[in-house]
Amino acid sequence: MAGRIPQSFIDELLNRVDIVEVIEARLPLKKAGREFQACCPFHNEKTPSFTVSPGKPFYHCFGCGAHGSAVGFLMEYENLDFPEAIEELARAMGLEVPREAGGSGGGDSQRLDHYGLLEKVERYFRQQLRQHSQAARAVDYLKARGLSGEIAQTFGLGYAPPGWDNLLQQLAAKGERELASELGLLVKKDDGSHYDRFRDRIMFPIRDRRGRCIGFGGRVLGDETPKYMNSPESPVFHKGRELYGLFEARKAGQKLERLLVVEGYMDVVALAQFGLTDTVATLGTATTAEHLERLYRTVSEVVFCFDGDAAGRRAAWRALENTLPVMRDGREARFLFLPEGEDPDSLVRRVGAEAFRQKTVESVPLSQFLFESLSKQVDIASVDGRARLVELARPLLARLPDSVFRDLMLERLAQISGLNSAQLRARLEPPRPQAMPKPSAPRRDSERSPVRTAIRLLLEQPALGQQLASIGALQDLELAGVPLLLELLELTRRNPHINTGGILEHWRGRPEERHLARLATTRLEIASDGFEPEFQGAVQRLIEQRNSQKVEYLLQKERQAGLDAAEKEELKQLVTGTRPIPGQNA
Ligand code: UTP
Ligand code: MN
Repeated sequence: MAGRIPQSFIDELLNRVDIVEVIEARLPLKKAGREFQACCPFHNEKTPSFTVSPGKPFYHCFGCGAHGSAVGFLMEYENLDFPEAIEELARAMGLEVPREAGGSGGGDSQRLDHYGLLEKVERYFRQQLRQHSQAARAVDYLKARGLSGEIAQTFGLGYAPPGWDNLLQQLAAKGERELASELGLLVKKDDGSHYDRFRDRIMFPIRDRRGRCIGFGGRVLGDETPKYMNSPESPVFHKGRELYGLFEARKAGQKLERLLVVEGYMDVVALAQFGLTDTVATLGTATTAEHLERLYRTVSEVVFCFDGDAAGRRAAWRALENTLPVMRDGREARFLFLPEGEDPDSLVRRVGAEAFRQKTVESVPLSQFLFESLSKQVDIASVDGRARLVELARPLLARLPDSVFRDLMLERLAQISGLNSAQLRARLEPPRPQAMPKPSAPRRDSERSPVRTAIRLLLEQPALGQQLASIGALQDLELAGVPLLLELLELTRRNPHINTGGILEHWRGRPEERHLARLATTRLEIASDGFEPEFQGAVQRLIEQRNSQKVEYLLQKERQAGLDAAEKEELKQLVTGTRPIPGQNA
């Protein structure tokens, strides 16, 4: 089982990674002075307020406040969790991610246990497909469906044998049964005992984008119902986010340019067997906004494949509605409607890979599907009908981000409705949202509290922390922000090469994170040769503040309870100024 990634490796990686390169690979950046800019990928905007500072190095959006290091960017942009983002960065830099042995309690290791257990169960199901006394029925079923042994292997297909306790017997180690019921592999009865959820079914392991098994779909061998059973939602399995076959599609080799979204597991596997490996399926749910984000982060063209019947058209329409908000320039969506009674699996077997591929090429563009569907609802020949068309289109086009594509859709609507596009635009444009408030004018840093100045400068130039002889003097200063400053000092002193992005990573998910990120991006009105004296000055002011706090405390104590010899000596030194730096106990 994989242990934690050592902090030292993360720090090292953050020091070495080029944030501009990481972001540029996913988002075109324009140079603007010492920084780089783009339209923010995390909210819709026309003028770029997304800024990458290579010196820090981190990114920040002045529009929506999104911010972070290269790791943070990958987490947000690619929907990765922290270790996944680290893995991804390391891979791009050709580094192997080390893991600490063992692991302690808590959320992360619990999740690692989930993955470990799923891996074991996946292996067990695969083995049953080869070894179980009933396996021949399952293998015959797969053969009858036309699947090759090779493709079954590629997708890791397995078999859950008939009976209530096959998997149960495999999971005897401490805690395994509890974990398995959390994952929905076992069902827990009221009396606390467990039984197998999946019985006499072909098992399709569902993987995350790193290839880890996160759940299963299980199909009956005959006509029983339900035809498919899926793992329930669990700490590692979220149906609205994952796509069946995405890992296999990425692994299949050539760079993915587009993805075909189908409905069934069998469709994905069958198309892959015919060489159409760029196919994914949702997990028995509608296509969610999260699915779409993930799809468009992988490719720029998505083809949705639906049945040609009424239900299929309704599902396609839902997909269209969810797609509109993510249709930024450069992205394309198309719809492929299959002949009645066919699904991709049956169609590809009937017409072959080439003809199937041709159908995807000839599929209907989103704009055409949208306007054709709306036109069918009105009498396009009448003025009233055309006015009604505009009304129907209004809420849909309003969902499109500001883009050339949106302009083209408006043009098209103008053509169909006979209104000129200026009139149309006036009718369709929602009232302009209030402009973003301008960031308030930066106040001069010297007017700020010394705690804030010290933190701000440490964020700018973490090496400043090295220059303090001792930070013990600040330990007992009671002042807002001091604990944060102390932690920051501790961190920068321990990690001589840490940079701003690395510092922000340490605060990821903690309440101070946003505050630190905002501070790191406020303008510094100090020239770089002034950093050190300003920093020393701020620290000195804090020490003085601490000293006068201490003097006050000692004087009060003297009045109330008297002082011992050491305290008397300390008070004397403090008031005579012979002990400017007390408590050399760093
Ligand atoms: P289909 O019934 O179209 O499945 O359901 P299919 O892939 O063509 O199956 P075969 O060819 O009969 O084996 C499409 C998807 O809907 C979900 C599954 O994810 C399935 O792949 N589904 C379907 C369920 O979750 N439960 C069901 O009972 C049926
Ligand atoms: Mn089918």
